[in-house]
Amino acid sequence: MRSSIITSALLLFGAVQADPGAKKNTGGPIDASILAHTGEPAGKEIKIANNLTVYISPPPPKSPRTKPRSQSAILLLTDVFGLNLLQNKLLADSFARAGYLTLVPDLFAGSPAPSDINDPASANFSIPAFLAAHQPPVTDPIIASAISHLRGSLNISSIAAAGYCFGGRYALRVVNPSPGGADVAFAAHPSLLTDEEISGVEKPVSVAAADRDELLTAARRAELEGLLLGAGGRYQVGVYGGTPHGFAVRANYSVESERFGKEGAFLQAVGWFDEFLVGRG
Ligand SMILES: *[C@@H]1O[C@H](CO)[C@@H](O)[C@H](O)[C@H]1NC(C)=O
Ligand SMILES: *[C@@H]1O[C@H](CO)[C@@H](O)[C@H](O)[C@H]1NC(C)=O
Ligand SMILES: *[C@@H]1O[C@H](CO)[C@@H](O)[C@H](O)[C@H]1NC(C)=O
Ligand SMILES: *[C@@H]1O[C@H](CO)[C@@H](O)[C@H](O)[C@H]1NC(C)=O
Repeated sequence: MRSSIITSALLLFGAVQADPGAKKNTGGPIDASILAHTGEPAGKEIKIANNLTVYISPPPPKSPRTKPRSQSAILLLTDVFGLNLLQNKLLADSFARAGYLTLVPDLFAGSPAPSDINDPASANFSIPAFLAAHQPPVTDPIIASAISHLRGSLNISSIAAAGYCFGGRYALRVVNPSPGGADVAFAAHPSLLTDEEISGVEKPVSVAAADRDELLTAARRAELEGLLLGAGGRYQVGVYGGTPHGFAVRANYSVESERFGKEGAFLQAVGWFDEFLVGRG
């Protein structure tokens, strides 16, 4: 009691330095109950500049976590299934429930990879041709448009990139000096990352990896760790046992290790963004 009176008095006269150990009010913790795996999307698709379709999911206005995050947003960079995959939209909605406005650009101009093998479009689908058509010279400008929408139209000052599979590579690219644009990154089972893209990161990076991933093998994961260590910034690598590539989006919820892995990767991402965008809560 006495110390709080003294503290108040000192604050009035501006004599107290901010206590680095003090808790900020950041709206309290979250748990995995806000992560939706099935259901209806809560956000909406809109067109922004450059004919870019984006899915936007706003945070719940009344959540105590929303106001402390009003200057921050999550840029969700999807896997090859893009906005056609329900789980990508539900993941955005789940990040929004954590208090972050979440924007998901359509990285594939309306033609993502077919996620359903019964889809007639899957008959002639060629993965190599698809990947060749979506290299950084094509994808970087799409992401740059999404970032300028966040910073310019929505007045967002801090951006967290959350990338999955195909999008994981770009989550790291946007915390490189070039093309840049984001302030912190999380990547789940990223594919196709070059050594330069990993060693070039200059912002905090968190990675969630599957232990059975043919696109990010155990050997490559070890290299990734070494390159992040060499990059010299803050990083984190979590490996989820009993998970395949894609688990952080398309987990099979009848397999306990996959459900637990998807929840863990989601909480890992939110914890990382809270730490570096919002501060200690
Ligand atoms: C605008 O984007 C849509 C896909 O979202 C595409 O089908 C259409 O051809 C594009 N229009 C122009 C003028 O680029
Ligand atoms: C697949 O390719 C074949 C041969 O080019 C073509 O006849 C067929 O219409 C294509 N199917 C679809 C769904 O595009
Ligand atoms: C944009 O955000 C800044 C704080 O980052 C604030 O000072 C300013 O008033 C905001 N502008 C608008 C138009 O909301
Ligand atoms: C999910 O896992 C269950 C249990 O192993 C399996 O029977 C089912 O085929 C799996 N579903 C998919 C879509 O892989």
